[in-house]
Amino acid sequence: MENIFKDMDNESVIFSDKSFLDHKFLPEHLPHRDEQIRSIAKYWSEILKNKSPSDVTVYGKTGTGKTVAIKFARQQLLEYTKDKDFLLRIEYIRCTDYNTEYQVIVRLCQQLGLDVPWRGWTKAEVLNSFRSLFNNKFQRKIILIVILDEIDILLQKNGDSILYTLTRIENVSVLSISNYIDFKRFITPRVMSSLRDKEVVFPPYNAQQLEDILTERAKMSFKINVDSEVIKLCAALAAKDEGDARYALDLLRTAGEIADENGSLSVIEENIRQAKERIEHNITADIILTLPAQQQRVLESILHLTNLNEEITSGKLYEEYKKISNGDYLTYRRVFDIINQLELLGIISTNKISRGRGKGITNLISLQCDTILLEDNLFSL
Ligand SMILES: Nc1ncnc2c1ncn2[C@@H]1O[C@H](COP(=O)(O)OP(=O)(O)OP(=O)(O)O)[C@@H](O)[C@H]1O
Ligand SMILES: [Mg+2]
Repeated sequence: MENIFKDMDNESVIFSDKSFLDHKFLPEHLPHRDEQIRSIAKYWSEILKNKSPSDVTVYGKTGTGKTVAIKFARQQLLEYTKDKDFLLRIEYIRCTDYNTEYQVIVRLCQQLGLDVPWRGWTKAEVLNSFRSLFNNKFQRKIILIVILDEIDILLQKNGDSILYTLTRIENVSVLSISNYIDFKRFITPRVMSSLRDKEVVFPPYNAQQLEDILTERAKMSFKINVDSEVIKLCAALAAKDEGDARYALDLLRTAGEIADENGSLSVIEENIRQAKERIEHNITADIILTLPAQQQRVLESILHLTNLNEEITSGKLYEEYKKISNGDYLTYRRVFDIINQLELLGIISTNKISRGRGKGITNLISLQCDTILLEDNLFSL
């Protein structure tokens, strides 16, 4: 028998190097982000006068290039200042990985060379160690920029005391990255007064801009020449869907993979449409699989009523949910919150319907994804 790896080891006809389409890849050139990168650079350039820069808040929807632009600016500044006479540190922290003040400060201490353990120390001890880095008169002056990416997660989970702590230390400056323009609703007045920040907004990309981004990345990663009409379609679909460059790149990569699987020598428009379906399918499946148990149960109730062709009101849903919950169920209020969360995730939609004068308004709930997809994933556990 031939080795089973033999026919998997064939080189792709479509791709020269797929890693250029990876989320982790940091391009050297970022089309249509000049203005944002320059704004950040202008604020950070205070460092060249040996001053700690202002705090900066970066806003923008998902896939608008925030992370990649900040990492680019970081690299440029580190490179430019490497021979200068002060000690600049720019520490990048993803708040999905470090989502409490304690964890962020421990992480910073460790990055800056202090021997602080993950557990065992009180918060005060950790904070004191961290602060000692900045008031030691015998050391060279350190300027620290802390990048808090996806800060919304940290604020929601742990409040804003991390910002209070960091903004109160001289020579520490914070750059926060948020998905929400109203992220300051999480911030208390106490912290607002010490966070005198500059704001930089990353607007969604339009179709033309996505096309430019895709064209550059396609040249690097594809062996074949991807037809400009194919790239246009990819850009148009992603522009319609929030102007998300990550999605645009995923579409292009998946379309290339589909072409590869089919053994074809080019990527055609049809592959982009197939890629769209495949990605949507995978995303929904991931969301469903990772939902907390009670949310899955609410979804299961909606699925059941949908299969019965019932009109789903919140009242009827709650009854069904209680029925399948075997006594272990949440209050109506909590289930109502779950309905809202599922709607935000795009799995269901709710529609307010007036039953006619004096009869009030009813919320009708309907599924927004395939029932088979739901059955496969809800009952696969
Ligand atoms: N102007 C650009 N040029 C080239 N690639 C880009 C550009 N903008 C975004 N990208 C690419 O799109 C993907 C998403 O960008 P990035 O991760 O920076 O988005 P984000 O705004 O941080 O999104 P999120 O809010 O979801 O974290 C990355 O793979 C990145 O390389
Ligand atoms: Mg990001």
